[in-house]
Amino acid sequence: MIGMENKFTFIIMGATGDLAKLKLIPAIYKLLKLNTVEHVSLIGVARSDTTIHSILDEVKGSIKDLDEAVWNKLSSHAHYQQLDFSNKKDFEKLRAKIVEVEKADDLSGNRLFYLATLPEHFELATKNLAGVGLINSLDDKWERVLYEKPFGDSLRSAKRINRAIDKVFKEENIYRVDHYLGKELVGNIALLRFTNRVLEPLWNSKHIDSVQIICDENFGIKNRGNYFDKYGAIKDMLQNHILQIVSLVAMESPEFISGEYLRSEKVKVLKKTRVTDILLGQYEGYEKEKGVMPNSATETFFAAKLEINNKRWKGVPFFVRAGKNLSKKETVIHIRFKAVDCLLAKSCPADNNYLTIRIEPNEGFSFELNSKSLRQGFAVETVNMDYCHRCEHGANTPEAYEVLLEQAILGEQALFVRNDEIELAWRIVDKIKKDGLSVYKYPVGSSGPKELTEWNKKNNIIWKS
Ligand code: BG6
Repeated sequence: MIGMENKFTFIIMGATGDLAKLKLIPAIYKLLKLNTVEHVSLIGVARSDTTIHSILDEVKGSIKDLDEAVWNKLSSHAHYQQLDFSNKKDFEKLRAKIVEVEKADDLSGNRLFYLATLPEHFELATKNLAGVGLINSLDDKWERVLYEKPFGDSLRSAKRINRAIDKVFKEENIYRVDHYLGKELVGNIALLRFTNRVLEPLWNSKHIDSVQIICDENFGIKNRGNYFDKYGAIKDMLQNHILQIVSLVAMESPEFISGEYLRSEKVKVLKKTRVTDILLGQYEGYEKEKGVMPNSATETFFAAKLEINNKRWKGVPFFVRAGKNLSKKETVIHIRFKAVDCLLAKSCPADNNYLTIRIEPNEGFSFELNSKSLRQGFAVETVNMDYCHRCEHGANTPEAYEVLLEQAILGEQALFVRNDEIELAWRIVDKIKKDGLSVYKYPVGSSGPKELTEWNKKNNIIWKS
């Protein structure tokens, strides 16, 4: 009997969706290729009448430099089970399939479930999995369930889902996914802060003037109109990815950079965070997208000012921005330090220093310093110290979902969102009152609504480009 951690059954519920095809199956293939995973028996689950090989064929074409031997290892242990979330009999069939596969592949019963579905299915799917005895965590094996974002659509729904899944699982078996936490440069925020003496003493309102978090995208809602129109950019990006980044940038030093310590510090930040001003936009032509309601007022862009009401951050605004169909795809954090007191009377003032963390593209970070201009007496210019992550690690930089799956297989939860964290993030977002706010139109490929200029002036923000 095989009982090792890295031999398990991987059950993807929602196996015909884009997430499974574009991210999850390629990620598990990669982990097999790297020998991080020794064996995986894959069971794709979805409502459609299809086969695992038709799903895998679609995935195969998108994998660069495919290693046929590794692919065969994956596909020769791959299966499909048709299932309707509301049909208990289908769950019985799924149980039979899992047991049959585990027996055939000599597995001990370690199971990784991935709910790659919309949150409205989470409660029922979890209940039915438990109802047919698929979840019974015995000491000698593990069962873990990953819930894809969004986790609900409001504080109320997140609480309800949490309550329902808590009845079946202990928190240590629940892995709420925010794929930004699997990104290398997001994972690096805490290390950069807490392992550099040159940064940590300055990381507070005495020395930091403001923080900018920018998540611009140069494409629209693709074929996700039904989902997006109901959620909008605030629930799609602020509730999860951006608030996760805010809490990593703002948290106090955890006792250890791992699991509960880290999550507990992030929670303390979220308790003190609120949105104090927001501007909304919608790209031109949005209402003609498939799945979008005519005259929809859903925002595809927002710029917001956040305050963190604690000793470290009092008076330091966090400006955050996200939008679809803008001029570029860029996810970046700019930490703007306060300017120095004017020491060199004539060449004063020197510019504020910025620490920039580039999450994507050109992963890395840079630090702007003031320096003497060439042959200009004591004139000052800004120079840049730059670290390029890809230059060091090449194309081997792991995809976020590889990192997350690997951590879940190891049973490490630091890169997943805890129940209280998710609820606090929803509370922040639920408090934004959108009624009465205008949603300004902006042209595709622009840098947002023209009304942003006024908003920037009012809030004293110059977005760094
Ligand atoms: C997803 C959002 O969570 O993150 C998408 O639903 C968004 O709307 C995406 O495009 C951005 O992720 P990434 O990794 O491309 O920055």
